[in-house]
Amino acid sequence: MELLQQLQEASAYIRQQGVKNPEIGLILGSGLGEIANEIEDAIAISYSDIPHFPVSTVVGHDGKLVYGTLSGRSVLVMSGRIHYYEGYEMQEVIFPVRVMKQLGIEKLLLTNAAGGINYNFTPGDLMMITDQINLTGTNPLLGKNCDQLGPRFVDMNNTFDKEYQVMARQTALNLNIHLQQGVYLGVTGPTYETPAEIRMFRTLGGDAVGMSTVSEVIAARHCGMRILGISCITNLGSGMQQTLDHSEVVATTQRVKETFKTFVRALVENM
Ligand code: HPA
Repeated sequence: MELLQQLQEASAYIRQQGVKNPEIGLILGSGLGEIANEIEDAIAISYSDIPHFPVSTVVGHDGKLVYGTLSGRSVLVMSGRIHYYEGYEMQEVIFPVRVMKQLGIEKLLLTNAAGGINYNFTPGDLMMITDQINLTGTNPLLGKNCDQLGPRFVDMNNTFDKEYQVMARQTALNLNIHLQQGVYLGVTGPTYETPAEIRMFRTLGGDAVGMSTVSEVIAARHCGMRILGISCITNLGSGMQQTLDHSEVVATTQRVKETFKTFVRALVENM
């Protein structure tokens, strides 16, 4: 079946569940999804019920879309991200972003957990993403272009919306939140990096590294969405600290979650 038809069927189903004109899309990173519980007048839709939506084969890992009001704005939240390392095709990873666009969403707030490469970063810092480097070794737009969605060759200047960056900086200032900024370098994982890779990534211009987001960003730019990206620096990159494991990533997101949620609520209000 043609991609466009799949997108239409998915979005038609979502609308039937009561989703009316969502304005802002939110895709939340590992351990950073709690804000989905604060959506008012929430409608939750399981991925597994949405036609053509990628579905996790891992039991107990079924994600959902949550629609409702946050900070007075109409939002659609992806609770449970689709990661390439789980074995999904790139087409599947970006399908939800395209569905959001199909539903009329033009504004996207992406968050993720990332390892710090920049020597000035400390675990627990929040980083506004100013640009990205796609080192996943692939591109989600490979193959036949769907001209109705966007152009064959996508301009990646101004990928992260400049006005949003000014707004995010001002918002952080108002809330007295220390906001770092930098380049997010995306890899596939699922291994963490070697110390040599982290040194290489620093030379290449990366400030933080993670296993998500870059493909979603490419898909969102393809269809002309405005993007704001925030990383939570959960740890320092390999070689910059002795060992690294997922429990540390989770522990850091837990530690900063109240600040993070306050920031996200304010960003949504101002987007
Ligand atoms: N590397 C890659 N992805 C990550 C890291 C990291 O150090 N921390 C959280 N996500």
